[in-house]
Amino acid sequence: MTILLLAGSGEAKEIATGLAALNLPAIASLAGATRAPKQLDIPTRVGGFGGADGFRDYLAEAGIHAVIDATHPYASRITDRTATICAEIGLPYLHVLRAPWIAQAGDNWTEIACEEDAAALIPKGSTVFLGTGRQTLDRFSGLAGCRVICRQIDPPSAAFPFEGGEFLIGRPPFPVAREKLLYAQLGIDWIIVKNAGGDASATKLTAARELGIPVLMIARPASPKAMRVDNAADALIWAQAL
Ligand SMILES: NC(=O)c1ccc[n+]([C@@H]2O[C@H](COP(=O)([O-])OP(=O)(O)OC[C@H]3O[C@@H](n4cnc5c(N)ncnc54)[C@H](OP(=O)(O)O)[C@@H]3O)[C@@H](O)[C@H]2O)c1
Repeated sequence: MTILLLAGSGEAKEIATGLAALNLPAIASLAGATRAPKQLDIPTRVGGFGGADGFRDYLAEAGIHAVIDATHPYASRITDRTATICAEIGLPYLHVLRAPWIAQAGDNWTEIACEEDAAALIPKGSTVFLGTGRQTLDRFSGLAGCRVICRQIDPPSAAFPFEGGEFLIGRPPFPVAREKLLYAQLGIDWIIVKNAGGDASATKLTAARELGIPVLMIARPASPKAMRVDNAADALIWAQAL
């Protein structure tokens, strides 16, 4: 029995450690978006499978008996496709999706359906901090006319896709005090984030609350109809019961 762990989240790292400790045969898969990702405690393959057919072939060739999908909450293409294929071929599938952040007293959040909706809400000339990563950057091109600062882990491999944008390189963790200092130094007027959930990256929201900076929160994609847990410990219980 070999479990395929679709990785890319903090939970995936914990699950990999747990699978190794439990001696459950497993292989992890990373999309390859981060150039020097943190190593996982189980054998790891890197890169896309080559579409749905490539994924089906991989499952058969690698002798996969179950899939734990612990990709990022916004990685909806891989999640939807994997849930569908596993259902089609009768492979046990578990979606690990951490709980979203919930606004609390002092937060000034506006939920938007997609990246493109940000431009209508942010006045031209504003300084905007993008905590969304670079993958969907071009979808913010309506913000041209603002100063847009996009934080990402790796140095950029291409120019910023629209005028007024700049990259800021930073690898987490980002403690609240440092976030506050950074936002104050940059003169941030707006912050745009995805509702990733979890404590590690909530520091930007705490900093925004304490500084009174408004936040645009991009809504989560819909989740497939599938077995779901919201933490690594429950995923390991599921894996042990296979
Ligand atoms: N830390 C973060 O903030 C973070 C991290 C990851 C993603 N995200 C967000 O999630 C969204 C999409 O991310 P995404 O491109 O990873 O997912 P995606 O759009 O769902 O997947 C796109 C393709 O990437 C490949 N892929 C994704 N995850 C994989 C994995 N674990 N192993 C092997 N291949 C994988 C697959 O390629 P094939 O079709 O070739 O198999 C898949 O079709 C973006 O909005 C991004 O900003 C954020």
